[in-house]
Amino acid sequence: MQEMHTHEIIPSTGKPSNLSSYEQTYATFRWEDIHAEFSWHTTGKVNMGYEAIDKHTTTHRRDKTALIYADDGGAQTFTFEEMRKFSNRFGNAFRSLGVQKGDRVFFFMPRTPEIYAGVIGALKIGAIVGPLFEAFMEGAVEDRLSDAEASVIVTTNALKSRIPKERLPHLKHIVLIDGEGELEDREASYKALIDAASEELDIEWVDLEHPMILHYTSGSTGKPKGVLHVHGAMLQQYITGHWVLDLREDDVYWCTADPGWVTGTSYGIFAPWLNGATNLIRGGRYSADRWYSTIQDYKVTVWYSAPTAFRMLMSAGDDDAERYDLTSLRHVLSVGEPLNPEVIRWGMKVYKQRIHDTWWMTETGAHMIVNVPSMDIRPGSMGKPIPGTKAAIIDDEGNEVPPYTLGNLALQAGWPSMMRRIWNNPAKYEEYFKLKGWYVSGDSAYMDEDGYFWFQGRVDDVINTSGERVGPFEVESKLVEHPAVAEAGVIGKPDPLRGSIIKAFVSLREDYVETPELLEELKQHVKTGLAAHAAPREIEVIDKLPKTRSGKIMRRVLKAKELGLPLGDLSTIED
Ligand code: PRX
Repeated sequence: MQEMHTHEIIPSTGKPSNLSSYEQTYATFRWEDIHAEFSWHTTGKVNMGYEAIDKHTTTHRRDKTALIYADDGGAQTFTFEEMRKFSNRFGNAFRSLGVQKGDRVFFFMPRTPEIYAGVIGALKIGAIVGPLFEAFMEGAVEDRLSDAEASVIVTTNALKSRIPKERLPHLKHIVLIDGEGELEDREASYKALIDAASEELDIEWVDLEHPMILHYTSGSTGKPKGVLHVHGAMLQQYITGHWVLDLREDDVYWCTADPGWVTGTSYGIFAPWLNGATNLIRGGRYSADRWYSTIQDYKVTVWYSAPTAFRMLMSAGDDDAERYDLTSLRHVLSVGEPLNPEVIRWGMKVYKQRIHDTWWMTETGAHMIVNVPSMDIRPGSMGKPIPGTKAAIIDDEGNEVPPYTLGNLALQAGWPSMMRRIWNNPAKYEEYFKLKGWYVSGDSAYMDEDGYFWFQGRVDDVINTSGERVGPFEVESKLVEHPAVAEAGVIGKPDPLRGSIIKAFVSLREDYVETPELLEELKQHVKTGLAAHAAPREIEVIDKLPKTRSGKIMRRVLKAKELGLPLGDLSTIED
């Protein structure tokens, strides 16, 4: 029985946009319709590096600004032609180190122009790019480099101490961006390599299915998994840049995500450049003033950020926003966490803009469920599936359920930017598709009578803190490495600013007693061993962790206890 529901609606402004009729395009669009946009339509081969940069240098965009890199010191700009040459040099530099098609080249460095040119350069020679978030500490870096058997990493003097090269036999070269002084074993100076490299390069033309980028992400069990995307992801990254980011020729587009995460590559590199847009990158740290002055000074028109950031800006106050001229903004989008209706209402008031939610995941490679400018926004809903894809809510047997029934958010497999593999782990890959071939996201949601999807939470124990995905297992493993910790169970605890914070329950070994110093030490242990964003903000010592008879920690019971909710089915508990 379908109940009556009313929804708050923020209507489209009706201004012209690239996807003028969602319904009509959804009904008629086929991926083949855009094949002719790409080189392989005629040659059978393709390369993301070419499509993102070089292609534009054969058009009116040759001397258009491709990259504005802004930080506290000012800005550097690069035209498409300059980026072509810069990335060519990088590609040649990698080749001079012996990098071949399919080799893994990692980037572990701050957000600077080099990482953007380096990623494109590595792709142009057919290497597989592996971006690492700058805040990762040794344990996190080692797990990823060793699983991927990376042969080259580009990094800085400050970060190289976190690369345990003695335990990474496959790692042949460590390219130091600022390596001017003495070089140690396996190290190479970026400057020397780039100076010696030609500005012209023979592109490695590859098949659509050739691997392109490896993003490590967390699940609820096991080590982080390497999600592999192929060059063919460009179809979807391109078209969602057009439809969803609504990019136009004279836009200045700013995506606030770091290239260590998928948003920072799919929408911080590929989508804007496939569309020939001017891509603004902001280095340095967040502050409301820095961010607003970035919008004001560079006249940002399209802005892609995340709920935690919007909530932080909101808590900085309306006055702060009002001191800046933000009238250049034409289109604002959000990703990564549930976007609170309250934030949307605030955006209407302060930015005079609707904030458009987008839902997708590392595994999906590009937008899947979205709000486009021509659609009405229903605050609290993620929107509707992009044309060319199908989303559904399914039960645990893989059957579609009626509107308003809570279930698994699933996608019909086969969209162009779908991951193609989990690196070294085919079984993990298969698990995603075990319900009648659907891709099962791990999110729970429902659909309303008009096909809008509403996010409700995670099905598994994966934690989303400030839009960053953290696997409890990694944090637990790090905690039990500490001599004081016997066992650990980690959960996400709801938090008004960050969505969730990480809370750890630990039991201590016999000789240890709980002190504030010890708890602080445990936090630091995770912070310095894994990453700051993965460190628990709260730690509670308990005598014994709830476990199943097979010894698995029951995080669900810890969470229920934390939130004061019923403990649920305890039939499998140990005692
Ligand atoms: O739980 C969903 C949440 O983030 C997860 C994917 O995280 P990650 O792979 O790190 O990718 C983040 C950016 C693409 C999802 O399973 N998530 C993402 N977008 C939204 C969201 N939750 C609610 N609303 C969203 N718009």
